Amino acid sequence: MKKIIALLLTLMFAVTCFAACGGDSSDATADEASNKLVIATSPDFPPFEYLENGKVVGIEIDIMNLICEELGKELVIKEMNFDSVLPGISAGKYDVGVSGITINEKRKKNSLFTAPYYEAAQAIVVVEGSDIASKADLEGKKISCQTGTTAEAYCLENGYTISAFESNPDAQMALTNGKVKAWVIDNLTAIAMVEDYNAKNDTKLVILDEYMTTEPYGFALAFGNEALVAEMDTLINKWVADGTIEAIFTEYGETYEAPKA
Ligand code: ARG
Repeated sequence: MKKIIALLLTLMFAVTCFAACGGDSSDATADEASNKLVIATSPDFPPFEYLENGKVVGIEIDIMNLICEELGKELVIKEMNFDSVLPGISAGKYDVGVSGITINEKRKKNSLFTAPYYEAAQAIVVVEGSDIASKADLEGKKISCQTGTTAEAYCLENGYTISAFESNPDAQMALTNGKVKAWVIDNLTAIAMVEDYNAKNDTKLVILDEYMTTEPYGFALAFGNEALVAEMDTLINKWVADGTIEAIFTEYGETYEAPKA
């Protein structure tokens, strides 16, 4: 009898607690039930995600809109710094990480990834006239990059001296202010940001021909979302094969590089 009362009390407590503390509508699982797809993004990354008149736009936003259309979901965009995207996904705070995210083995330990849709590269940006003309010349030079990115990880793992910044514009400014000698950043974002800078300034930035690395982009989801990953993969693989993804890159005036794997 005592056991039954104890059990009932535990149940009552659980129910009260659920009513009081559960039902948090900002949480992704609740949103999933309401058919929303909440994405986490750092919109400092043209042409993949950037702000236009205060609105987040870009290649990955177009891809996510297509995915939502196919899955009958409503896209909800949450903006944050890049170094909050992957931790937020692993913690289950958002449904999908959409941020030019490189798929790699280390990250696969903390979250699921969709199939890759693009093969990117890490570009080296310097000020015109710099004595750095190749990757080898970077030795002993200070490099800027964005916090939490593969550029940061690569530079640290390979013994480069870095200065990391939460936002890409700040990493770029470290180079233009002369605080660092080079800036390592994903290739298409490098092109977009360098073009924009050069159009507005007398000192020019230059992207070196030699890349640091190449790496595939995909979208990140929390463990437990295998079914949604499978649905997204079917669409992504179809769109990589039939040219839909390439057509989106073309619309943005970009050259498309299909994923290697
Ligand atoms: N591809 C790199 C990475 O996954 C950089 C991504 C940065 N994305 C951004 N939206 N700022 O680490």
